[in-house]
Amino acid sequence: MKQKLVVLSGAGISAESGLKTFRDSDGLWEGYRVEDVATLAAWYADMKMVLDFYNMRRKNVLEAEPNQAHLLLKELEERYEVKIITQNVDNLHERARSTNILHLHGIITQAKSTFDDKLIYSIDGWEMKMGDRCEYGSQLRPNIVWFGEAVPNIEPAIKIVEEADILLVIGTSLQVYPAAGLIKYFSNQKPLYVIDPKQIPISRTKNIYFLAAKASEGMQQLIKILDN
Ligand code: APR
Repeated sequence: MKQKLVVLSGAGISAESGLKTFRDSDGLWEGYRVEDVATLAAWYADMKMVLDFYNMRRKNVLEAEPNQAHLLLKELEERYEVKIITQNVDNLHERARSTNILHLHGIITQAKSTFDDKLIYSIDGWEMKMGDRCEYGSQLRPNIVWFGEAVPNIEPAIKIVEEADILLVIGTSLQVYPAAGLIKYFSNQKPLYVIDPKQIPISRTKNIYFLAAKASEGMQQLIKILDN
């Protein structure tokens, strides 16, 4: 029976694909104010500005490619039952052909009805415009979970973490909840690996292993450890 390897990934895993993180020195939140582009209030204040922000990001995502860290997670499926819980809205895990991915904060290649948020549409290309409407005529918005909005996938994510044999936290500063709170649902008796070039705050002392490296290098180190 394959061991359950659960991965909690953040923007750092896509940094080597050329996508900006949020809170690093050149991060997205250096250039934009969250309250201007990533809240419901921002949407109602200036829909066009919000659409343009996500159009720019979507264009970058479509031009990017999965990097070795994404690909190595796919490879690990040969030996582990790998489940990925990602905070990322990019589709690089999907394009690396990982088979079990749960998005907590939405997917940037999808649009959502503002009349019925269960109506999700795939976006063709990178551009969403004012006047793009759902089947009920409401303006479409990006299928992104904005600050202050509910995170519907947190419940299934908690269950996945509770059942994990190994937990890998990669490329996230663990500053955004409820995602950052997932760690506390993982058993203290089992190994937790953290891959990040920076020291990130985790209040756990037992069975925790920091690999201070970028995602692709850290994944190579992890595989050596797991194969031992
Ligand atoms: N490899 C691995 N980790 C990296 C790399 C890299 N090449 N480059 C940077 N990092 C690390 C940073 O050190 C940092 O700890 O990735 C982390 C990125 O943290 P954030 O920018 O805060 O991104 P994330 O944790 O994913 O943000 C969580 O916040 O803005 C919201 O909804 C958005 O999903 C996002 C959430």
